[in-house]
Amino acid sequence: MAARFAFLWPGAELSWRGMNLEHWTAVDRYITDTLVTPDPALAAALSASAAAGLPPINVAPNQGRLLQLLARMQGARNILEIGTLGGYSTIWLARALPADGRLVTLEAEALHASIARENIARAGLEKIVQVRLGPALKTLQQLVAEKAGPFDFVFIDADKESYPDYFRWSLKLSRRGTCIIADNVVRNGAVIDPAHEDPRVQGVRRFNELLAAEPRVSATTIQTVGSKGYDGFTLALVTGD
Ligand code: SAH
Ligand code: DHB
Ligand code: MG
Repeated sequence: MAARFAFLWPGAELSWRGMNLEHWTAVDRYITDTLVTPDPALAAALSASAAAGLPPINVAPNQGRLLQLLARMQGARNILEIGTLGGYSTIWLARALPADGRLVTLEAEALHASIARENIARAGLEKIVQVRLGPALKTLQQLVAEKAGPFDFVFIDADKESYPDYFRWSLKLSRRGTCIIADNVVRNGAVIDPAHEDPRVQGVRRFNELLAAEPRVSATTIQTVGSKGYDGFTLALVTGD
């Protein structure tokens, strides 16, 4: 397993006191088997995505449940997702919404968007979810122009280089009380290296600097280990406007 993910995060084979990706994956499986009720539409979304050759970089099932719980705790009726892939996290989040809720998800790759639309339709969520094809910097601008906001909940999960921009646009599409979550913010611990050469690490670092400097937001980051390696989630609450 470690070798399989080494291309995503150099050093993903990293271990701590014998704890490693294989162990974290086994514990994720245990948690998922124990707590995460199987859902045929979610399973089908993953197999259709794999069959179409999409990379297996969706959130893990227990992380999908976390997103869903956060959206429900938030009482979210409008959700914005940046980075759809095959719609796996999208389905988790859309299942948190009431029947008249709305989710807009942004995806740059035509193949990803089309597989996601099929997966979302199979889950019976096509009336609730809109997949917008195009570079998110463009579709975010469109959403602002259309006055599509404010959203109650935002999940940032597209290209990490652009997280600072995604945060700025998310704020424009937020209100006091909006919850903003970002995936992949610890990057195998590389986030603490100010001189790191990976632009994705630099993107996450600039995202943190923006969060820290933004008086309208209160935020924290939680490190995670699991089947996706060593990474983390940022949770931010818009407390002012
Ligand atoms: N949220 C998904 C995983 C998203 S993976 C899940 O957990 O199931 C990141 C996605 O962002 C990929 O599908 C990639 O094509 C998309 N992406 C990358 N750059 C983008 C951009 N500039 N605009 C919109 N989407 C982008
Ligand atoms: C990648 C993207 C993700 O959103 C993720 O959770 C893991 C990996 C990637 O682009 O490699
Ligand atoms: Mg991610």
